[in-house]
Amino acid sequence: MSTEGKPYHWWQTGVVYQIYPRSFQDSNGDGIGDLAGIILRMDYLKDTLGVDAIWLSPFYPSPMADFGYDIADYCDVDPMFGDLATFDRLVAEAHRRGLKVIVDYVPNHTSDQHAWFVESRASRQSPKRDWYIWRDPKPDGSPPNNWGGFFGGPAWTLDPATGQYYLHQFVPEQPELNWRNPDVVRAMLDVLRFWMRRGVDGFRMDVVGLLIKDAELRDNPPNPNAPAGLPPNDIFGRQLHTYSEDQDEVHDLIRQIRCTLDEFPDRVGIGELWGDLPRWVKYYGEHGDELQLPFNFRLMHLPWKAEAMQASVDALEAALPPFGWPNYVLSNHDQPRFASRYGGQAQARVAAMLLLSLRGTPTVYYGDELGLENGLIPPHKIQDPQGVNLGAHRTRDVARTPMQWDARPQAGFSSVEPWLPVTSDFEVRNVAAQLQDPSSVLTLYRRLIAVRRGSRALQVGSYRALEAGVPGVFAFVREVDGERVVAALNFNAEPVQVALPGFGAGQIVVSTSGREGEVATADLTLAPHEGLLMTL
Ligand code: GLC
Repeated sequence: MSTEGKPYHWWQTGVVYQIYPRSFQDSNGDGIGDLAGIILRMDYLKDTLGVDAIWLSPFYPSPMADFGYDIADYCDVDPMFGDLATFDRLVAEAHRRGLKVIVDYVPNHTSDQHAWFVESRASRQSPKRDWYIWRDPKPDGSPPNNWGGFFGGPAWTLDPATGQYYLHQFVPEQPELNWRNPDVVRAMLDVLRFWMRRGVDGFRMDVVGLLIKDAELRDNPPNPNAPAGLPPNDIFGRQLHTYSEDQDEVHDLIRQIRCTLDEFPDRVGIGELWGDLPRWVKYYGEHGDELQLPFNFRLMHLPWKAEAMQASVDALEAALPPFGWPNYVLSNHDQPRFASRYGGQAQARVAAMLLLSLRGTPTVYYGDELGLENGLIPPHKIQDPQGVNLGAHRTRDVARTPMQWDARPQAGFSSVEPWLPVTSDFEVRNVAAQLQDPSSVLTLYRRLIAVRRGSRALQVGSYRALEAGVPGVFAFVREVDGERVVAALNFNAEPVQVALPGFGAGQIVVSTSGREGEVATADLTLAPHEGLLMTL
């Protein structure tokens, strides 16, 4: 896209929407969402909500030990979700509407059912043995090092037939590929080409900072700040991950990935990355030659405090290289819903305004536009391995409940009992009901997205925090070529009086409370949990 002279990419100006395919729309009555279901909801995405790109979590053949993040074939579709022809139709339907399609790329590990691993584990002499990370036991028979897995237990499993351990930092059914082997690199870059040839516009890259491990696989040190009360099997939580993630050598691989993306026009690489700012920022590449969007999860991990949020945004803005484009995420399929995390519906509305008015690409997680809260999952229905292994309070199922379309049984998601239950308030918290309600969360999202689309200041303008003069208020201005938009967000449960001198009268363009009209920015009253977007 080009806006008055300066060209911007679609992944800079657009809003990304994450779909968890299992939970979006079931089209064939098996209680699990599928690709044909997503096609049925394409008009919702484009016309009702108005997003610009969809990111699909994995839909590839998988035994589902980690709900699709254990991939048995990178270049096909699991029959549960459809087939390649349906995927092609999905891309065509999306592109016909001007929607971009981003797919998940899971390069760190495969399923233990992937043909590569089956061959690799067959014998120590297998030509694919070195495609995975195999090591002899220690003399006492124990694992090669002390690393723990994210979902509990050790990161190594012994293969009795060949007498060696293989590495897996997630469940044992997710053996890790050896990216030090050039054949693995070649095969995995070809996976990117396979999907780009089918028309995909970009990739969200799973745990991409884990691709390379310490060459000597040294023991990780203990974490002196490990939280108290971790379950005994949470070895991972008790360690620093000094030697298992974020090794300097990973950047060479990411540059190769980026070169592969650049073989096709205007594709985007989005990385799932954590870590402190100085290390995280390196994933843009020294010359902008790595990822265009290393995911920025910082706001997602903060408490609902204006000062903390502002400090995080300001630190990010200060740390970005000149070519680095910011992005913000408030929730995804791995975290509790933010309407629950931030304290309720009122906070969720202000959070939506924050996400959709900051400088940088916003990613909206499906269902957040309805204000979905954490699902109540009965203990016997917990399916996520993290919840099964580390305790019910850790289950990610709470954020993966079905999308709620209308007040029919199963919320219009499916004709049968879905794989996870719909939320108890689905009869009111659904798309059809909220479309009729001018004060609904969905109406607010539609308005915020439409206003962002129509405003160059919000899409590409600069960001500057404003001194609001009262605690618990985050105010900032977005500005380009004389167009200015001011956001004033009250995180308090009480009304506040805010002074934003120098801006004169503001015209409210979006309000979380339904307020309209003109206001004096130098003497502005904000209701409890009220957010305002104003043009000047
Ligand atoms: C990422 C995914 C998560 C998955 C894990 C292993 O963190 O977001 O859902 O369990 O990687 O692939």
